[in-house]
Amino acid sequence: MSHLDDLPPTPGKYKTDKVPPYWMILHHHRYLRLSKLTLWASLFLALFLFYLILSPPPSPSRRNLNDSSSVSAAKYGGSHWEKQVRKSARPRSPGGLTVLVTGASGFVGTHVSIALRRRGDGVLGLDNFNRYYDPKLKRARQGLLERSGVFVVEGDINDAVLLRKLFDVVLFTHVMHLAAQAGVRYAMQNPGSYVNSNIAGFVNLLEVSKSANPQPAIVWASSSSVYGLNSKVPFSEKDRTDQPASLYAATKKAGEGIAHTYNHIYGLSLTGLRFFTVYGPWGRPDMAYFFFTKDILKGKTITVFESPDKGSVARDFTYIDDIVKGCLGALDTAEKSTGSGGKKKGSAMFRIYNLGNTSPVPVTKLVTILEKLLKTKAKKKIMPLPRNGDVEFTHANITLAQAELGYKPTVDLETGLKKFVKWYMGFYTKKKSSW
Ligand SMILES: NC(=O)c1ccc[n+]([C@@H]2O[C@H](COP(=O)([O-])OP(=O)(O)OC[C@H]3O[C@@H](n4cnc5c(N)ncnc54)[C@H](O)[C@@H]3O)[C@@H](O)[C@H]2O)c1
Repeated sequence: MSHLDDLPPTPGKYKTDKVPPYWMILHHHRYLRLSKLTLWASLFLALFLFYLILSPPPSPSRRNLNDSSSVSAAKYGGSHWEKQVRKSARPRSPGGLTVLVTGASGFVGTHVSIALRRRGDGVLGLDNFNRYYDPKLKRARQGLLERSGVFVVEGDINDAVLLRKLFDVVLFTHVMHLAAQAGVRYAMQNPGSYVNSNIAGFVNLLEVSKSANPQPAIVWASSSSVYGLNSKVPFSEKDRTDQPASLYAATKKAGEGIAHTYNHIYGLSLTGLRFFTVYGPWGRPDMAYFFFTKDILKGKTITVFESPDKGSVARDFTYIDDIVKGCLGALDTAEKSTGSGGKKKGSAMFRIYNLGNTSPVPVTKLVTILEKLLKTKAKKKIMPLPRNGDVEFTHANITLAQAELGYKPTVDLETGLKKFVKWYMGFYTKKKSSW
């Protein structure tokens, strides 16, 4: 018998003398109201539990709420989208590569993607357009890529569903992995973003790549920062890299170890490139040559750091076109991965190369060149180098890359900065420089 059977029948069917006392009716009404409430609450609870069970777990990028570089929701799917993906990834020349470029709307990613496309390779870009620096610049680079025939999928390397979808739609022969949280000093403000992109995101990409059939060969960006406090110059690939000076450097070093593991266990062909301070047109606004230019033009004081012995801080500045040649050389010489569908079938190639200019220039000299190109005297404040991750100097030994990738940098700092300033004036001030 259910509690509903206890309810009084329709009042009209009762004779007056048989009407139950008032307290009993009141009690029954209350009981009825309570039962209805219980029913609605149970229904609501059931629906809520049903929703919880069906909704997917939040992606790591969404969980990273402290990330000011917050990721826009991935936009993908549908037949039109797949058509764009296939078209962009299709090589135009016989024997051309089919390359997934992560971080394609970044500085290096844009240049590498365009260079690959120009020589007839198929290129698909992937970028999350985060706000680490002005996303308008990334969108402008995306426009440039689209005009060159490169479609950029908006999404995160942590999104395994998206990555698997891309590998389902396209049989990538190569991945050029450039997506990362760059910058040394920002790591003190937002450490999570480095772990999210440079470690978790990299592992996710390797996981999906190792399960792909065929497995792609992967070339990825490490960094000269892995040399950290190493004082032996020039920095050689054989030198110690166990003294990182920043969390950025530590995540890049971790990436090299992680890559080795995937090479060892799954037979993925992996090539790490340690870039040395890359500069040039469409560059990164968080880098000194870029914000010095901006501040000198605005008449703002620039801070130039010196080493504790009052010496100048020096960098092995490397022009973007030279880096692009090194990336293409690494892709072209990468042997195939040996595994398939997550199983290793033999040993695969694992390489690490320095890509630098092998001629360090003091930052004071960089300022002098900019003053000359901008025809403006800089207001300078000289400060001791703070201990926030920057090292005093970098200097690449490039013998290995020369021998094995045919890498040969040709652009000196003054020539490269001339090209950068020309681009900067055109892009930001719409004034053409006199160069
Ligand atoms: N520029 C240099 O001097 C230099 C030096 C050493 C190493 N590197 C490395 O080279 C690579 C490219 O550097 P860059 O200068 O072009 O930097 P960049 O910031 O301009 O490019 C990186 C791109 O990756 C994207 N990205 C970041 N996290 C992502 C994620 N989780 N999912 C998808 N996209 C993501 C960003 O939106 C950005 O467009 C990076 O790995 C960087 O660490 C650069």
